[in-house]
Amino acid sequence: MKPKSFNSVDDFSKVKVKDLVTQNFHASELFEKLGIDFCCNGNRPLREALEEKQISNEKFLEELNKVNQSISSDNQRYSEWDLNFLAQYIVNNHHTYVKNAIPNIATHLEKVFNAHGEKYSYISEVQKEFRLVANEMISHMAKEEKILFPLIRYLVDTKNFSEKPKSGGYGTIKNPIRQMEAEHVSAGSAMEKIRALTDNYSLPQDACTTFQTTYKELDEFEKDLHKHIHLENNILFPRAIELENILVNETR
Ligand SMILES: [Fe+2]
Repeated sequence: MKPKSFNSVDDFSKVKVKDLVTQNFHASELFEKLGIDFCCNGNRPLREALEEKQISNEKFLEELNKVNQSISSDNQRYSEWDLNFLAQYIVNNHHTYVKNAIPNIATHLEKVFNAHGEKYSYISEVQKEFRLVANEMISHMAKEEKILFPLIRYLVDTKNFSEKPKSGGYGTIKNPIRQMEAEHVSAGSAMEKIRALTDNYSLPQDACTTFQTTYKELDEFEKDLHKHIHLENNILFPRAIELENILVNETR
Protein backbone atom coordinates (compact mmCIF):
# COMPACT_ATOMS: atom_id res chain seq x y z
CA MET A 1 0.00 0.00 0.00
CA LYS A 2 1.45 3.31 -1.09
CA PRO A 3 0.77 6.35 1.10
CA LYS A 4 -1.91 8.63 -0.26
CA SER A 5 -0.25 11.44 -2.18
CA PHE A 6 -1.27 15.03 -1.74
CA ASN A 7 -1.01 17.38 -4.69
CA SER A 8 -2.13 20.50 -2.95
CA VAL A 9 -2.77 21.75 0.57
CA ASP A 10 -6.51 21.70 -0.24
CA ASP A 11 -6.29 17.91 0.14
CA PHE A 12 -5.54 18.44 3.85
CA SER A 13 -9.07 19.57 4.66
CA LYS A 14 -10.29 16.26 6.08
CA VAL A 15 -6.95 14.78 7.12
CA LYS A 16 -6.24 13.93 10.73
CA VAL A 17 -2.70 13.80 12.10
CA LYS A 18 -2.89 10.04 12.80
CA ASP A 19 -4.00 9.27 9.20
CA LEU A 20 -0.62 10.23 7.81
CA VAL A 21 1.28 8.04 10.28
CA THR A 22 -1.11 5.13 9.78
CA GLN A 23 -0.53 5.31 6.00
CA ASN A 24 3.21 5.80 6.21
CA PHE A 25 4.94 5.16 9.49
CA HIS A 26 7.88 7.35 8.46
CA ALA A 27 5.61 10.39 8.72
CA SER A 28 6.02 9.99 12.49
CA GLU A 29 9.62 11.19 12.14
CA LEU A 30 8.39 14.40 10.53
CA PHE A 31 5.86 14.94 13.32
CA GLU A 32 8.56 14.30 15.94
CA LYS A 33 10.74 16.91 14.27
CA LEU A 34 7.93 19.45 14.29
CA GLY A 35 6.88 18.65 17.87
CA ILE A 36 3.39 17.53 16.81
CA ASP A 37 1.79 14.81 18.93
CA PHE A 38 0.62 12.07 16.55
CA CYS A 39 -0.22 9.40 19.13
CA CYS A 40 -2.33 10.60 22.08
CA ASN A 41 -3.59 13.60 20.11
CA GLY A 42 -3.52 11.96 16.69
CA ASN A 43 -7.25 12.40 16.27
CA ARG A 44 -7.08 16.14 15.68
CA PRO A 45 -7.26 17.79 12.25
CA LEU A 46 -3.85 18.21 10.62
CA ARG A 47 -4.55 21.85 9.81
CA GLU A 48 -5.28 22.65 13.45
CA ALA A 49 -2.01 21.00 14.60
CA LEU A 50 0.00 22.89 11.95
CA GLU A 51 -1.63 26.18 12.86
CA GLU A 52 -0.83 25.69 16.53
CA LYS A 53 2.85 25.18 15.69
CA GLN A 54 2.75 28.03 13.16
CA ILE A 55 3.84 25.79 10.31
CA SER A 56 2.52 26.68 6.87
CA ASN A 57 0.49 24.03 5.03
CA GLU A 58 2.71 24.50 1.96
CA LYS A 59 5.94 23.94 3.88
CA PHE A 60 4.45 20.85 5.50
CA LEU A 61 3.29 19.45 2.15
CA GLU A 62 6.81 19.87 0.77
CA GLU A 63 8.31 17.97 3.72
CA LEU A 64 5.64 15.27 3.62
CA ASN A 65 6.22 14.62 -0.07
CA LYS A 66 9.93 14.17 0.66
CA VAL A 67 9.10 11.61 3.37
CA ASN A 68 6.70 9.75 1.08
CA GLN A 69 9.22 9.65 -1.76
CA SER A 70 11.99 8.26 0.39
CA ILE A 71 9.81 5.51 1.80
CA SER A 72 11.50 2.15 1.51
CA SER A 73 9.84 -0.89 0.04
CA ASP A 74 9.89 -2.66 3.39
CA ASN A 75 7.62 -0.04 4.95
CA GLN A 76 5.75 -2.02 7.55
CA ARG A 77 2.05 -2.06 6.99
CA TYR A 78 0.86 -2.28 10.55
CA SER A 79 -2.72 -1.48 9.66
CA GLU A 80 -2.94 -4.59 7.48
CA TRP A 81 -1.50 -6.98 10.04
CA ASP A 82 -3.57 -9.59 11.83
CA LEU A 83 -4.64 -8.11 15.19
CA ASN A 84 -3.02 -10.88 17.26
CA PHE A 85 0.20 -10.45 15.35
CA LEU A 86 0.14 -6.70 15.92
CA ALA A 87 -0.52 -7.13 19.67
CA GLN A 88 2.31 -9.64 19.90
CA TYR A 89 4.59 -7.32 17.93
CA ILE A 90 3.84 -4.50 20.40
CA VAL A 91 4.72 -6.80 23.31
CA ASN A 92 7.88 -8.20 21.72
CA ASN A 93 9.11 -4.92 20.40
CA HIS A 94 7.86 -2.02 22.53
CA HIS A 95 7.02 -3.65 25.87
CA THR A 96 10.35 -5.50 25.94
CA TYR A 97 12.20 -2.31 25.06
CA VAL A 98 10.44 -0.34 27.84
CA LYS A 99 11.13 -3.08 30.42
CA ASN A 100 14.84 -3.10 29.52
CA ALA A 101 15.23 0.66 29.20
CA ILE A 102 13.65 1.59 32.55
CA PRO A 103 16.35 0.18 34.89
CA ASN A 104 19.13 1.46 32.59
CA ILE A 105 17.80 5.01 32.45
CA ALA A 106 17.03 5.01 36.20
CA THR A 107 20.63 3.98 37.00
CA HIS A 108 22.06 6.61 34.67
CA LEU A 109 19.79 9.31 36.07
CA GLU A 110 20.92 8.42 39.58
CA LYS A 111 24.57 8.80 38.50
CA VAL A 112 23.85 12.15 36.85
CA PHE A 113 21.99 13.29 39.97
CA ASN A 114 24.90 12.30 42.24
CA ALA A 115 27.44 14.09 40.07
CA HIS A 116 25.48 17.18 38.96
CA GLY A 117 22.31 17.29 41.07
CA GLU A 118 23.52 20.11 43.27
CA LYS A 119 24.42 22.41 40.38
CA TYR A 120 21.44 21.50 38.18
CA SER A 121 18.43 21.23 40.45
CA TYR A 122 16.09 20.19 37.61
CA ILE A 123 17.71 16.74 37.55
CA SER A 124 15.82 15.64 40.65
CA GLU A 125 12.59 16.79 38.96
CA VAL A 126 13.48 14.73 35.89
CA GLN A 127 14.12 11.75 38.13
CA LYS A 128 10.77 12.21 39.84
CA GLU A 129 8.89 12.37 36.53
CA PHE A 130 10.76 9.39 35.14
CA ARG A 131 9.95 7.33 38.22
CA LEU A 132 6.31 8.19 37.64
CA VAL A 133 6.41 7.09 33.99
CA ALA A 134 8.33 3.94 34.87
CA ASN A 135 5.86 2.82 37.55
CA GLU A 136 2.88 3.68 35.41
CA MET A 137 4.23 1.91 32.35
CA ILE A 138 5.06 -1.28 34.24
CA SER A 139 1.54 -1.62 35.60
CA HIS A 140 0.01 -0.39 32.32
CA MET A 141 1.82 -2.98 30.21
CA ALA A 142 0.90 -5.74 32.65
CA LYS A 143 -2.79 -4.81 32.28
CA GLU A 144 -2.47 -4.91 28.50
CA GLU A 145 -0.64 -8.23 28.51
CA LYS A 146 -2.91 -9.90 31.07
CA ILE A 147 -6.30 -8.40 30.28
CA LEU A 148 -6.69 -6.36 27.10
CA PHE A 149 -4.52 -8.27 24.62
CA PRO A 150 -5.96 -11.68 25.63
CA LEU A 151 -9.40 -10.12 25.14
CA ILE A 152 -8.41 -9.06 21.63
CA ARG A 153 -7.10 -12.60 21.00
CA TYR A 154 -10.45 -13.95 22.19
CA LEU A 155 -12.35 -11.71 19.76
CA VAL A 156 -10.08 -12.73 16.85
CA ASP A 157 -10.53 -16.45 17.69
CA THR A 158 -14.28 -16.01 18.05
CA LYS A 159 -14.41 -14.45 14.60
CA ASN A 160 -12.14 -17.13 13.09
CA PHE A 161 -14.23 -19.97 14.51
CA SER A 162 -17.51 -18.19 13.70
CA GLU A 163 -18.56 -18.37 17.33
CA LYS A 164 -20.74 -16.10 19.38
CA PRO A 165 -18.78 -13.87 21.80
CA LYS A 166 -19.48 -14.53 25.47
CA SER A 167 -19.72 -11.62 27.84
CA GLY A 168 -16.58 -11.62 29.96
CA GLY A 169 -17.85 -9.24 32.62
CA TYR A 170 -16.04 -6.30 31.07
CA GLY A 171 -19.11 -4.94 29.26
CA THR A 172 -17.48 -3.85 26.07
CA ILE A 173 -13.83 -3.80 25.04
CA LYS A 174 -14.22 -0.02 24.88
CA ASN A 175 -13.99 0.09 28.71
CA PRO A 176 -10.46 -1.31 29.14
CA ILE A 177 -9.40 0.57 25.99
CA ARG A 178 -10.59 3.88 27.43
CA GLN A 179 -8.54 3.25 30.54
CA MET A 180 -5.43 2.35 28.52
CA GLU A 181 -5.83 5.53 26.46
CA ALA A 182 -6.05 7.64 29.62
CA GLU A 183 -2.86 6.02 30.89
CA HIS A 184 -1.15 6.77 27.57
CA VAL A 185 -2.00 10.45 28.00
CA SER A 186 -0.50 10.43 31.48
CA ALA A 187 2.78 8.74 30.38
CA GLY A 188 3.00 11.01 27.33
CA SER A 189 2.60 14.17 29.40
CA ALA A 190 5.21 13.09 31.96
CA MET A 191 7.72 12.60 29.12
CA GLU A 192 6.71 15.98 27.72
CA LYS A 193 7.43 17.50 31.13
CA ILE A 194 10.89 15.89 31.11
CA ARG A 195 11.53 17.39 27.69
CA ALA A 196 10.52 20.82 28.99
CA LEU A 197 12.58 20.47 32.21
CA THR A 198 15.69 19.64 30.19
CA ASP A 199 14.98 22.39 27.64
CA ASN A 200 14.55 19.88 24.84
CA TYR A 201 17.47 17.77 26.07
CA SER A 202 20.00 20.61 25.83
CA LEU A 203 23.17 19.51 27.60
CA PRO A 204 25.11 21.89 29.84
CA GLN A 205 28.69 22.70 28.76
CA ASP A 206 30.21 20.50 31.47
CA ALA A 207 28.01 17.46 30.79
CA CYS A 208 29.87 14.19 31.28
CA THR A 209 29.41 11.13 29.07
CA THR A 210 26.77 9.64 31.38
CA PHE A 211 24.81 12.90 31.21
CA GLN A 212 24.95 12.80 27.40
CA THR A 213 23.98 9.12 27.30
CA THR A 214 21.06 9.66 29.68
CA TYR A 215 19.59 12.44 27.54
CA LYS A 216 19.96 10.30 24.42
CA GLU A 217 18.24 7.41 26.19
CA LEU A 218 15.38 9.60 27.45
CA ASP A 219 14.88 11.06 23.99
CA GLU A 220 14.83 7.57 22.48
CA PHE A 221 12.44 6.38 25.22
CA GLU A 222 9.99 9.17 24.42
CA LYS A 223 10.15 8.52 20.66
CA ASP A 224 9.58 4.81 21.21
CA LEU A 225 6.64 5.62 23.48
CA HIS A 226 5.08 7.77 20.76
CA LYS A 227 5.30 4.95 18.20
CA HIS A 228 4.07 2.45 20.77
CA ILE A 229 1.04 4.60 21.65
CA HIS A 230 0.33 5.29 17.98
CA LEU A 231 0.18 1.57 17.18
CA GLU A 232 -2.28 1.03 20.02
CA ASN A 233 -4.44 4.17 19.95
CA ASN A 234 -4.65 4.60 16.20
CA ILE A 235 -4.50 1.03 14.87
CA LEU A 236 -4.91 -1.79 17.40
CA PHE A 237 -7.66 -0.28 19.57
CA PRO A 238 -9.96 1.05 16.81
CA ARG A 239 -9.66 -2.24 14.93
CA ALA A 240 -10.48 -4.24 18.08
CA ILE A 241 -13.56 -2.06 18.70
CA GLU A 242 -14.58 -2.55 15.07
CA LEU A 243 -14.17 -6.33 15.40
CA GLU A 244 -16.27 -6.39 18.56
CA ASN A 245 -19.01 -4.37 16.81
CA ILE A 246 -19.02 -6.80 13.87
CA LEU A 247 -19.31 -9.81 16.20
CA VAL A 248 -22.07 -8.27 18.30
CA ASN A 249 -24.10 -7.29 15.22
CA GLU A 250 -23.58 -10.67 13.53
CA THR A 251 -24.87 -12.59 16.51
CA ARG A 252 -27.78 -10.33 17.32
FE1 LIG B 1 -0.42 0.87 25.96
